[in-house]
Amino acid sequence: EKEGYEHFTLKEIYEQPKGVKDTVTRRIDASGDLKLEGLQITKEDLAAINRIYIVACGTAYHAGLVGRRAIEKFAGIPVECDVASEFRYRDPFIDAHTLFIAVSQSGETLDTLQSIREAKRKGARVLSIVNVVGSSVSRESDDVFYTWAGPEIGVASTKAYTTQLTAFYLIALYFAKLNGYTTDSYRHEILKELLKMPTMIQSVLDKTEDIQKLAAAQFNNEKVFFMGRGVDCDLAFEGSLKLKEISYINSFAIAAGELKHGTIALIEEGTFVIAVATQDRLYDKMLSNIKEVKARGAHVFAIAQEGNTEIQKTADEVFYIPKTMDELAAITAIIPLQLFAYYVSLARGNDVDKPRNLAKSVTVE
Ligand code: F6R
Repeated sequence: EKEGYEHFTLKEIYEQPKGVKDTVTRRIDASGDLKLEGLQITKEDLAAINRIYIVACGTAYHAGLVGRRAIEKFAGIPVECDVASEFRYRDPFIDAHTLFIAVSQSGETLDTLQSIREAKRKGARVLSIVNVVGSSVSRESDDVFYTWAGPEIGVASTKAYTTQLTAFYLIALYFAKLNGYTTDSYRHEILKELLKMPTMIQSVLDKTEDIQKLAAAQFNNEKVFFMGRGVDCDLAFEGSLKLKEISYINSFAIAAGELKHGTIALIEEGTFVIAVATQDRLYDKMLSNIKEVKARGAHVFAIAQEGNTEIQKTADEVFYIPKTMDELAAITAIIPLQLFAYYVSLARGNDVDKPRNLAKSVTVE
């Protein structure tokens, strides 16, 4: 079943070009237009919605953070994103003008399911982004968007995440088409670029060796910091979760602009920092943040878009993702972070596919 790969986790990382391709191409009709099977939301339905909550756990929550940005930017609808175990208990304001979006690979996560029930009770419409067909989450939702990632066996979620991002981009574009918040040409540009993502992911995977080398040099760290701004901050959270869950290294992520408000005190000689810097608009700010940690002795590995070479002068190592629209860079920029977690886990002799204390599906509260 592992088809020659040493672990399911690695196999699933490598299946991402296909997962993203399947998720996108099934939603584009012969005329090149978006058609989202399973979504019955009409123009009128959307016009009546004035607030969206995205609710999920773990990696699915991290996908939601990226989804929030896409929906706000493409479709202009206010979005909040929360973890299900918090959302359920905070008496969120929900009414018939609320769209609730649940995200779940397994479709069985209990906190997510209970959040759906709470939202429905208060009159919200429920749309879910799910990988497992016929799962509880999909059965209890009004609209379902299936990610076509295929079965995910490794406990660390990888291909589910990139297909969830893809789902959010498509849903955001679909909403934009319905409400006309952004221009047709902008939407077409994004859709065209989205179709290139499978090839771009593959070109990142072709550079796996670079990450393997980095992991060989850095697997003995006791702590690792991830930082980023904008969507790169969301990626920092996901990269950090991936690393901690399979390598057991104490890692955490922070919005780079928050560093100087406390956390920079933890940076000392040799501290390993991963800086995600894919966004043109925030590039200079990230360069300053990298300089700040370098000045305190950090060793910095950065992820940037091809062509933005200025960063080489400051960071110790740079991994370049193919040049793309800032809006979509998350899909490729997460790949080196997944690979890094995988190779560090391997180097530390851990059970990569089944990390300690974790279960693939969390059906308890
Ligand atoms: C992390 C991971 C978990 C899941 C979370 C939600 O790699 O796999 O954080 O993302 O338990 O699970 P689902 O998506 O099945 O609801």
